[in-house]
Amino acid sequence: MKWKHSRRYFELQFVYGIKMHAIILAGGKGTRLLPLTEELPKPLIPVAGMPMVAHVMNALIEAGVTDLTFAVSWDTYMPIKACFSHKYKDIVINYSIEDYPLGSAGAIGKACELNRPTQSFFVVNADVITSSSLADMRSVHDSLNTPDPLVSILLHESEMTGDFGIVELGTGRKVQKFLEKPASGTTSSKMINAGIWIFSERVIDRLPTDNFARVEETLFPDLVKDEGGLVGITDDGAYWADLGTPEALLAGARYMRHSTKPLIHESAVIEVDAEISNSEIGAGTTVSSSTIISNSLIWDSVTVGSNAKIYDSIIGNNVIIDENARISRAVIGPYAQVSAEFYVRDRAMKSEKRNRN
Ligand code: GTP
Repeated sequence: MKWKHSRRYFELQFVYGIKMHAIILAGGKGTRLLPLTEELPKPLIPVAGMPMVAHVMNALIEAGVTDLTFAVSWDTYMPIKACFSHKYKDIVINYSIEDYPLGSAGAIGKACELNRPTQSFFVVNADVITSSSLADMRSVHDSLNTPDPLVSILLHESEMTGDFGIVELGTGRKVQKFLEKPASGTTSSKMINAGIWIFSERVIDRLPTDNFARVEETLFPDLVKDEGGLVGITDDGAYWADLGTPEALLAGARYMRHSTKPLIHESAVIEVDAEISNSEIGAGTTVSSSTIISNSLIWDSVTVGSNAKIYDSIIGNNVIIDENARISRAVIGPYAQVSAEFYVRDRAMKSEKRNRN
């Protein structure tokens, strides 16, 4: 799959001289996806043939973004830079590096210090995907002027509200309550914070630049209390997912492939009688005969022995799966080896550092 994106930014930047900024929050630890995130930052996990974050980057570029700042940690900086420095050559990409985690508020504040937007700008989590048009979100944000919102939040309606911030909306899109991961029964609202926001340049000075704070716990509740400057823009039933857990990653990748046909890298070697469905197979991976792989993500340079069965699982780079092994609802860390006849079920299997060169 090609990393397609529109040429609209070209028109905006070079013909009209307009810059549109976006900040991508990409400095988290990705603990819920360990051991996969031990070596590969979560934003670079492959989803439908490209790094997870490339999907949201493309959506931002479609919406007219010309200047992108990745807010990163020292751990995520080099791999993210290496991945994107030769791609996306027509937009400007900056890196705001945090010596220690600053949380969403500190990360945005520091990124603005590095490259200060002069008009409203997008802020997105690197691990969300949406089919919603961010250009439409921007149009709605720009159309609201009584008063101008200080922050607009994309809202997604979901029955699965457990791990997310919940918004209660009033009239005129005003957010009446912003509840960060409330206990069940606290609210009947099903509108969740989708992790895609538009910030006015007027709030920049309210953000810290060198200490930890989360906008979800500080700025957003304050904006509701003090000024009503927080608005919600619903995604009207678009697909949305936060890919922070193995289950969500499998489901999100399935959606993003838009097909039940497997996505197999051209350099992978697959025996003709291997049965592969609803899955992705990465570069340099070999799959031996009589294997079954279903609803799984098999990363690069993995060796799958004959007659192995893999269901609903994620297999990290350079894993060796011996013949007749069976893996179900599991996450296998990079360089691990699953021995012949072994059955791994419902668990994460650690990376095997000792096998590395
Ligand atoms: P878990 O440890 O599994 O919760 O993952 P995470 O560390 O990525 O945290 P979470 O999913 O809550 O983060 C949402 C987004 O914010 C992700 O894209 C993270 O990379 C990013 N993020 C989280 N904390 C920070 C931070 O302190 N600084 C920056 N720059 N980004 C962060």
